[in-house]
Amino acid sequence: MPAHSLFPTLVYSARLQGRQWHAFNRQLLRECLQLRLDDAGGQRWSAKNYPGGYTSYNSVARLHQLSPTFATLERRLRRHVQRFAASLDFDLENRELAMTDCWVNIMPRHVVHGLHLHPLSTLSGTYYVQVPKGCPGLKFEDPRLDRFMAAPPRRADVRPENRPWIVIPAQPGQLLLFESWLRHEVAPNPRPAERISISFNYHWC
Ligand code: NI
Repeated sequence: MPAHSLFPTLVYSARLQGRQWHAFNRQLLRECLQLRLDDAGGQRWSAKNYPGGYTSYNSVARLHQLSPTFATLERRLRRHVQRFAASLDFDLENRELAMTDCWVNIMPRHVVHGLHLHPLSTLSGTYYVQVPKGCPGLKFEDPRLDRFMAAPPRRADVRPENRPWIVIPAQPGQLLLFESWLRHEVAPNPRPAERISISFNYHWC
C-alpha cells in the first residue's frame, strides 16, 4: 500500500495470569476495599472530586511502597513496562522507568471518570481487579483531535487505527499501559456492582 502509517499511538494490553493469579487478585481486592474503609482523607477528597466513588489518588498514592501485595504487583508489571518501552523504541540512557504513584479507584453505579491525562509522568496504566459484566472499559481519544480542521467524518466501518476514539474493554486481571499524555476517560458505570481498578504512573528517573 502506498500510504505510510506514521506517528502511531501505542496502547499496551496484557493479562496477568498463572496459577497464583486468583489468590493474588483476591488479596488485592481485599486491600482495595479495606483501604476505602481506613482512608478518611481519601473519602473526603473523593466526596468532592470523585462523586459517588472512592479513589486514593490524593491520599494514599504510593501503595507499592506501603503494601507487600502492591509491591508484588509492581514487580509483576516490570517486564510488561520494559516490553512496552521497547515497542516505543525508548532509549532510556541507563536511567530507569520507575513506578512513582500507585492508587486505587472504586466506581460504584453511575460514577464517571472524566477525560484526563497524567501530567509529569512518562507512562501510565491500569490493572483491573474487579470488573462486573457490563462495566465500561477505558476510552482513549485521538491526541490530534484539536488539529482536525476540515477532516471528514470516518465511515461506519472505520478501521480501529483511524477512529477518533476507541474503548478498550476492561477485564479482571488485565493490564493497560499507555504514554501519560494520552487522554482517556471511563464512562458512567451502568451496573449495580463496583468496578475496581489500580492505576499507576511511571517516571523516567
Ligand atoms: Ni487516568
